[in-house]
Amino acid sequence: MASNGEQLANLPWVEKYRPKNLDELISHETIIKTINKFIDENQLPHLLLYGPPGTGKTSTILACAHKLYTPAQFNSMVLELNASDDRGIGIVRGQILSFASTGTMYKSAFKLIILDEADAMTNDAQNALRRIIEKYTDNVRFCIICNYLSKIIPPLQSRCTRFRFLPLASEQIIPRLNHVIKMENLNVTEDGKQALMTLSGGDMRKVISVLQSTSFAYGVVNEENVYNCVGHPLPSDIRKIVNWLLNEPYDTCYKNIQELKLNKGLALQDILTEIHSCIIKIDFPDLLFMDLLCKLAKIEKRLASGCRDSIQVNSLVSAFYEVRDIET
Ligand SMILES: Nc1ncnc2c1ncn2[C@@H]1O[C@H](COP(=O)(O)OP(=O)(O)O)[C@@H](O)[C@H]1O
Ligand SMILES: [Mg+2]
Repeated sequence: MASNGEQLANLPWVEKYRPKNLDELISHETIIKTINKFIDENQLPHLLLYGPPGTGKTSTILACAHKLYTPAQFNSMVLELNASDDRGIGIVRGQILSFASTGTMYKSAFKLIILDEADAMTNDAQNALRRIIEKYTDNVRFCIICNYLSKIIPPLQSRCTRFRFLPLASEQIIPRLNHVIKMENLNVTEDGKQALMTLSGGDMRKVISVLQSTSFAYGVVNEENVYNCVGHPLPSDIRKIVNWLLNEPYDTCYKNIQELKLNKGLALQDILTEIHSCIIKIDFPDLLFMDLLCKLAKIEKRLASGCRDSIQVNSLVSAFYEVRDIET
């Protein structure tokens, strides 16, 4: 059972480097400070933590739980349910109700029920939870965690103190990333770190897991390897594509893009997203640019509804034909 060194070494890094206590969590200073104060004054309310994935919601409540309870108490005092558990009304009337309604062995202590990934709970289940939360407040505290606040019914929201977790900023991620790199003794270049930041969009879980898979697959973690590892087009590939689209004849353009897609296993959808952020920096005449954006949006819609890539590559090339006439 005990997590000795060997067990720890086999863990995926996201778990291995999960913050063990509240001070280890990066960002969210005000949230952590407030929750710490609640705990110190023994005034913990029901909590509702929401925000995008990989920002530390689960880690925060687990760190709280470890602060509240000794390891011996932990199993009898904390009930953790996540998306892999059944989320219907049955579990609320069964497991949750029986956990909440039974007393504790420890005087003046409350139990903690963590409902992780609560977006998946049915409305019926959430409604059934309302009464339980009220009735057993002196015995249990609930912590509801979700990605989208709108998935939680208003009566539940109003029974909890809400905390919003924002995506993490690069400046906050970098020191933590450097810590992992140092502990694992990795070879990571500066552009590799930058690529991890760009691809993750403030999701620390993604940063660490892409870091792990890239270093396992390629050894060196540089820009190219990171992008290849996740199958995302490199900025240099996108510049190449845009260059073709603006300058090469139709046939060459189509052939080159298809070839690049095939060689690197890229999805047209990802290429499209990146082309979008690339052409925004080019100074096209307004009307033409608007027209181009509409065409790109249509291609994206068609891709999302399952149309074939190869036909949409044709669409992409023709979408650029009009701007190119004026440009040159
Ligand atoms: N604020 C943070 N500080 C340090 N590490 C973090 C933070 N947020 C996420 N992580 C890393 O990402 C992993 C996933 O975090 P988690 O708390 O499960 O995210 P969430 O529940 O918000 O999706 C953690 O194991 C940890 O390695
Ligand atoms: Mg989580």
